[in-house]
Amino acid sequence: MEVVHTIPELRAAVARARQAGKSVGFVPTMGCLHEGHLSLIRRAKQESGYVVVSIFVNPTQFGPNEDFAKYPRTFEDDRQGCEVAGASLIFAPSAADFYPAGASTWVDVEGISAGLCGEFRPGHFRGVATVVAMLFNAAQADVAVFGRKDLQQLAVIRRMVRDLHFPVRIIGHETVREPNGVAMSSRNRYLSAEQLTQATAIPSALSAAQALAKTGVTDAVKLRTAANDVLAAQPALKPQYCEIVDLETMAPVASTAGKRCAIAVACHLGATRLIDNADL
Ligand code: PAF
Repeated sequence: MEVVHTIPELRAAVARARQAGKSVGFVPTMGCLHEGHLSLIRRAKQESGYVVVSIFVNPTQFGPNEDFAKYPRTFEDDRQGCEVAGASLIFAPSAADFYPAGASTWVDVEGISAGLCGEFRPGHFRGVATVVAMLFNAAQADVAVFGRKDLQQLAVIRRMVRDLHFPVRIIGHETVREPNGVAMSSRNRYLSAEQLTQATAIPSALSAAQALAKTGVTDAVKLRTAANDVLAAQPALKPQYCEIVDLETMAPVASTAGKRCAIAVACHLGATRLIDNADL
């Protein structure tokens, strides 16, 4: 497995892989890799002969009061994880090289970015869409794999790819969970053992809504209430939103009847913000 830091090195390596007849898979990450990321890499490996993993803590997707400075950087562990999971190459640019001085171009995926996390993290999806567009241009992969835990991010990327005609197929891969059901996230590192237990109320809330939906209930207020009741029973959790949304548009729905929908939740637990979702 190679590690490169510049776009010309990345493009040369990808060109060599293509000359060798391999298709190219891509997994963009911000590092601090956990089993969820490794499952994305393994999925990309099933889909393509050559797998590029980017590791780049993207400054433009963090708000001024967010955790950019303290976001965990664990490159050596990440390198080993990528190798074991079957990556062919890590692309780890520096922010100074990757964003040209005076960069002033943004990709803003309107509408779909506005609600849910977009409401509470202004500018976040503009930063994500911009860096992912830059990474797609750099890697020129055939297929890219994203985790379904970041459901709105996945919808934003799908829309961007559709609207801007990026020649890349997007795969949304299932959320990987801790043994107690909490969705894996790099930010779980910030949680104490007690908080990790308290966080189980989030998947329990999603399960409550799913169980109600299975009985035939389609009314979004009832489904949301089922989830909110579970969240409210855990006082350490401070819910930010709990919405029933259309999977393609991310718009809140009044009823799930005849639509592909999900329940999406964001909560603060101490200083840590956690998100999760489930199909309904
Ligand atoms: O999901 C992430 O880790 C990031 O948002 C991504 C897609 C790598 C863009 O920086």
